[in-house]
Formats: sequence, C-alpha cells, structure tokens
Amino acid sequence: MSDKVNNRSEWFYPPEDLVRSAYVQDYEAAYARAQADPEGFWAEQARELDWFEPWQQVVDGSNAPFYRWFVGAKTNIAHNALDRHVKTWRKNKIAMIWEGEPGDVRTFSYYRMWQEVNRFANILKSMGVKKGDTVTIYMGRVPEMVWAMLACAKIGAIHSVVYGGFSDQALTDRIEDAQSRVVVTCDGAWLRGSIVPLKDTVDEAVRRCPIVEHIIVVRRTGNEVYMEPGRDYWYHDLRGLPIAATQCPTEVMDSEDPLFILYTSGTTGKPKGVLHTHGGYQVYTSTTLKWVFDINDEDRWWCAADPGWITGHSYIVYGPLLLGATSFMYEGAPAHPYPNRWWKMIEHYGITILYTAPTAIRGLMRFGSAWPNRHDLSSLRLLGSVGEPINPEAWKWYHTIIGKSRCPIMDTWWQTETGGFMITPLPSTPLKPGSATRPFPGIEVDVVDEEGNSVPPGTDGMLVIKKPWPSMLRTIYGDPNRYVEQYWSKYRKQGWYLAGDSARKDEDGYIWIIGRIDDVLKVSGYRLGTAEVESGLVSHPAVAEAAVIGIPDEVKGNAIHAYCILRAGVTDDGHLEATLKDHVRHEVGPIAVPARIEFVASLPKTRSGKIMRRVLKARAMGMPEGDISTLEE
Ligand code: WTA
Repeated sequence: MSDKVNNRSEWFYPPEDLVRSAYVQDYEAAYARAQADPEGFWAEQARELDWFEPWQQVVDGSNAPFYRWFVGAKTNIAHNALDRHVKTWRKNKIAMIWEGEPGDVRTFSYYRMWQEVNRFANILKSMGVKKGDTVTIYMGRVPEMVWAMLACAKIGAIHSVVYGGFSDQALTDRIEDAQSRVVVTCDGAWLRGSIVPLKDTVDEAVRRCPIVEHIIVVRRTGNEVYMEPGRDYWYHDLRGLPIAATQCPTEVMDSEDPLFILYTSGTTGKPKGVLHTHGGYQVYTSTTLKWVFDINDEDRWWCAADPGWITGHSYIVYGPLLLGATSFMYEGAPAHPYPNRWWKMIEHYGITILYTAPTAIRGLMRFGSAWPNRHDLSSLRLLGSVGEPINPEAWKWYHTIIGKSRCPIMDTWWQTETGGFMITPLPSTPLKPGSATRPFPGIEVDVVDEEGNSVPPGTDGMLVIKKPWPSMLRTIYGDPNRYVEQYWSKYRKQGWYLAGDSARKDEDGYIWIIGRIDDVLKVSGYRLGTAEVESGLVSHPAVAEAAVIGIPDEVKGNAIHAYCILRAGVTDDGHLEATLKDHVRHEVGPIAVPARIEFVASLPKTRSGKIMRRVLKARAMGMPEGDISTLEE
C-alpha cells in the first residue's frame, strides 16, 4: 500500500472551545507522562475511585501473561458505581433515562437505582446465589438487565450476559460453560413492533441444562409464557416480598476477583468466555470514558449498543455509573416506527454525546438526511464510533448531518478482551476520517511483521499491544491454555498481546485498522466466528461440509456467504437454502443467518485439508485469487 492511501483524507480539527474545556487538552503530554511511569499513572487514575483497602503493588507480571492489577486491594465495582454516589448530592441526580420501543419512559435517580440493585441483589441471594457463583442473564434492553448485572457484582457473583439475539443452543452452551444455577430473563423483548419470545428460548435451552435451578422472569411484553412451579419466578412477585429489601451489604472483593464472563467468537467453533475482574476494569473503564468522551455532570450520554456486548458492559453499565453520569438507554430498533426515531430522541432528551457503530450509521443514512434534518440536534457536542472501521461516506454523513460539522468523532478501537478503548482520539485530537488515531495514554501498540519488527508507515502488519493494561482480560474462563495460546503465543518471546487485527500506521503515527486476520467476521458490528456458522450449517443432515466468508455489504459491513457441499444423495429441492437459513437461525441465532447459501461440489483446500476462505472470497468478489500454490488439486 502506498503512503498516499493513508493520507487520502483531510484533517479535521476539533472546535477550540471543546478543546479548551476538555478534560485532557494535551494528549502528547498525557501520553509521555504515562510512558515515563506507567504504574504511577495507573495508580493516579485508580485513586479517583474508592478502595476498601489499598493495593500493595500496581501490577504484578511475575506470572505473565496472567497479570494481576492493584494487587492486594479490596474493592467492589458496585460500590464505586452506586454506593458512593448515594452518599453525595448525586443521590438525586438522574442515573438513567430509559425509553422503551413502544414509547414508555422510565427515569431513575442514583438513589432509586441503588435501591433497585439492592432489591435484585437480595433476590439473587434468596435463590442461593453466593460470591463466586455465576448467573446467566438473557434479556432485552431493559433497566432490570442493568440492575441484574450490578446486583451480581454487589454480592460478588459473576454475571454472564448472553445477547438476546442468540439461539437456545448458543444459550445452552454458555450456561453449561459458566455452570450457572440461576438464569435471569424477560418474558419477551420488543423489536420492530413485535415480541422476541426470550422466555421460550430460555425454556428450550434449560431443558438441556440440568444445572439450572431457578429462572427469574422480568415481565416486559406481557406475552404468555410457561412458568414452571418451583423453578420459575416472576421478578415483580419477588420484588414485592420482604426478602427484596432495599438495603443490601456490598461484598468486599479482592481487586482480582472475577466480575463477569462475556462470551465472544474466536477462531474455533467454541465461544470463549472472556473474564474481567473488579479492580482493573473499574479503573480503566472510568478513566477512558472520562478522557475520551469528556463526560461532565451536564452531559446526557447515549451509548446505543446492547448491554449484552462489551460496549454495553463497559460504556452503558459500568463506565457511566462509575463517573456518576446521566445515561440514556433505548430498548428497540433504530428506525422504528419511523427512521427519525433516534434523532427524535436526541432532540427530546437533549443528548450531548452519541456513541454508536458504523453499521447503525450506514443503516440510518440509507433513509436520507431529511429525517435527521427535521430535528434539532444542536445538543450534541461529541460523537463516537466503534465495532469496525468507519468508511469515509459514513464518517462524512455522521460528521456533517448529525454533528453539523461541529462534533468530533471519537473512533474507538478496542475489543471484548481489552475491556475498554485502546486506540482512540481524545476530544482535542486532530482527526483523520477512518483512523482510530493514537493509543490511549498508558497503552503501547505497534504494527509488526511475522517476526515482530515494526513495519514502516503505510505497510500492513499485525496489531500488537506491548504492555499490560488494567482491564486486560485475565483468562478464558475454564481454559487458561487457550488464553495463552490465542493471545500470547505468537509473540511469546517479546511478551506482546496479539489483537487479531491487521493495521497500518501512517507517517503521523496514526493507526488505521484494516480488519481481522483470523476467521472472525464483523456482521452489523457483531462478532461472529466463521466456524460457528459453519458448525451450524453442518449440523443439518443435508450438509456434508460448509465454508463461510464475509462479503462487503453496504450496511452490515459484512454479509455472510456460505458454500455447502451436500451429503451424497441429497439434492436441492429449491427450498433447501431457506431451510438451512432457518436451521442456522435456530442453531446459532438470527445474527448468524447467511445472506446467501450456494451449493457446490467441492471447496478450495490446502493440501493439509484447510479450507482456503481467502480463495472463496476472491472468487466471490471477482478478484485475483492470489497465491494458490498450496491449493490441493
Ligand atoms: C473491530 C467491540 C476498526 C476489530 C468493542 C476488533 C474495530 C473487533 C473498531 C472487536 C474500530 C472494534 N475500528 N475496527 N473503531 N472497534 N473493531 O470484541 O476487528 O465485539 O478486533 O469488541 O472489532 O470486537 P468486539
């Protein structure tokens, strides 16, 4: 790639008043300070929070890559997110404004939220949930989901949130892996005016999980659900009982005690349970949110992700509450009932910062500028993007139509594994559309070749993180070997973390993320392993073998294309594609359904039998197939 590619875009300078009022005005100085004394830097950030007992050591790398942060400290993230605020004026501050898809609105002060979390925590305790137990949460985007997560944290339980778009099979796998005895769900979730029957899916999933003893069901949609006596309880019934008191002591946790597991896709079919802990995660999410989005008491922050993904964990639930911020949360689909839904809510609630994904921007852009132009969006002062590289057209539209050429766009690169923003502008950073710009202070990244040499500007390479950071994943739940293998083996000698993305640096030191180097696809911002979709397809009796690739798609980023070899004797009756799509929907979930399935007689493979997805992709896109010397005849 020539250097020109990196310089294709103009610079965008943030408005001066924004820079002047920003929390961090001099990135270079902040970065240099953190580089000179990383431990001192992180300790300084950590002191912004409460600790029941101080740490003896900031970071312990003696058993690397199993790093420990704020060693010996006692804390609880729920204390910092709620308990400490209700003792201050923030008690009466709005913590969250929530709007349901049908238009119902609920608002919670810090005090009210704290009470609700305490109630939920007491309910979990009454079901026998103890410190160290896992609780699986499979819900729609409702406030009770936030309470359930915080309630777990409060009593020292580990939450495992499974995104409501996953199938019963995927849910079974995650409940089993986490060994949860208690599941929290809703009767249903509103999506585009219809009901997603979450409880039915849980019932299916739990039939295969004898370990599950109790299901707590939050009533949201009012659809009829099956309630098994002795196993299933309505949340509103429990909440009315004396056990659901509004006071609940906060468990004293070690800094390194697990906070949550979040399953994410990797290169093999089995999802990985990424594990995060109380101490480092609270320091990193609060610091990054404050520095990057410059959140003040006047702000109304809207992170439009789903709490079921890392973006929601870090920047809907924990980050904003740790900062005592006011958040907005919306339940449903962006264009429901009309494509102005988001813009209308921004105007109505006076949202000041919007953080979303390129796929959502592209989806709304399709409806044209007249929809946002009907609304007063002048409350916005900062915008954010996450999940995949933002293409120039979407960047421009977001910047000019939504941000009125006034609001800088914080393009944040990070991962489930990193817990928080890693490569990101600050409000004072001059921007280049499509680049996530520079590493956050305290974070050292590089783009390197196979041997670990820094590649020159303009050359593709592997993105690595060279130093540990407080919210790094601690392990893969129940599979420490896989943790080492997946992230730390490629550059074992150097002790670097392999991000799994390819990237490029330009001569200004700006980083341009290209995409995954492994078999992970980003579809509508969701992370999916090709192997997950392929095993979904192969589990159907008609399919002998399957290969899945991502084809660039205007809205989704990637559309899934699948190639299937049918079993001997099976022929396509004309309905097979539809049947298989249904099958994948059921096996993996709606987000994994291929846009196209093609039936083929063979698949390109290496002589060692590995499917060459690269060749399939080149063929599908009419591009040169590259080096096919290893292709089997
Ligand atoms: C991609 C989402 C380009 C990247 C927080 C990464 C991005 C994967 C960006 C992690 C961005 C995320 N620019 N690519 N700003 N943000 N990615 O775990 O490929 O769902 O490895 O975390 O998303 O996806 P995950």
